[in-house]
Amino acid sequence: MCEKGAVSTRAGRGGVLRRGLRARLFAWQLAHAADAQEALYAERKRALFAGLATPPGCGPPRTVVEIGAGAGPNARYLARGTRWVVVEPNAWFHPHLRRAAERHGLDLDLRPGTAEALPVEGGAADAVVSTLVLCSVGDVEAALSEARRVLRPGGRFYFVEHVAAPPGSGLRAWQRALRRPWGWAADGCRPDRETGRRIREAGFADVQMEAFTAPLGLAAPHVAGVATVGGIER
Ligand SMILES: C[S@@+](CC[C@H](N)C(=O)[O-])C[C@H]1O[C@@H](n2cnc3c(N)ncnc32)[C@H](O)[C@@H]1O
Repeated sequence: MCEKGAVSTRAGRGGVLRRGLRARLFAWQLAHAADAQEALYAERKRALFAGLATPPGCGPPRTVVEIGAGAGPNARYLARGTRWVVVEPNAWFHPHLRRAAERHGLDLDLRPGTAEALPVEGGAADAVVSTLVLCSVGDVEAALSEARRVLRPGGRFYFVEHVAAPPGSGLRAWQRALRRPWGWAADGCRPDRETGRRIREAGFADVQMEAFTAPLGLAAPHVAGVATVGGIER
């Protein structure tokens, strides 16, 4: 199980790797919007992922687990030689991920599964990366708990996520009113999810988080940061 590069058809939401038309359309749309989307985040991501961009020295290659990696926009921020364990239930993204790994010199280990039940051994990861994923997962608490479980002591959870607008704001009312059509159009994304609060409450030893806004309509409010699990850093 979990062999390098092995991709089962029994994974993803409901236990099945997603290969349907909706999944295909979403993958096509996101892959084509990738450059425009990345321009919105590039500067912030360069700063956030700086610690992952440099080789870890003469030790073993760093292991980075990425959940919901989509078309692989984060591959460019990782050091060449990184072991990039990706859990992406939409099969239509897999060819993009293979190409991104090749382009950026990453050792891709693409695994079937979901963020809520990571097919990764406990304590095996130096870092877990999640960008624009926690809005879509079925169970945020389970996904965060899994991120903590797979991180080694002192390991870090890196995130960039869009979040609910402040309670009582006009934007929050729109996020709530339009959450169903938005979710339908955006592959299950919930615009009014309080992901920042959930990360703070997830039991990490330390959470560094900042809020920012991107020109993305209902999904404008964002948080980005690093949450560290307890224990002694290697
Ligand atoms: C908006 S896309 C973001 C993709 C990429 N991380 C990025 O920044 O462009 C959301 C991604 O989360 C994935 N996803 C949805 N539910 C998931 C789950 N339960 N576990 C892991 N990934 C999931 C989707 O297949 C998709 O690739």
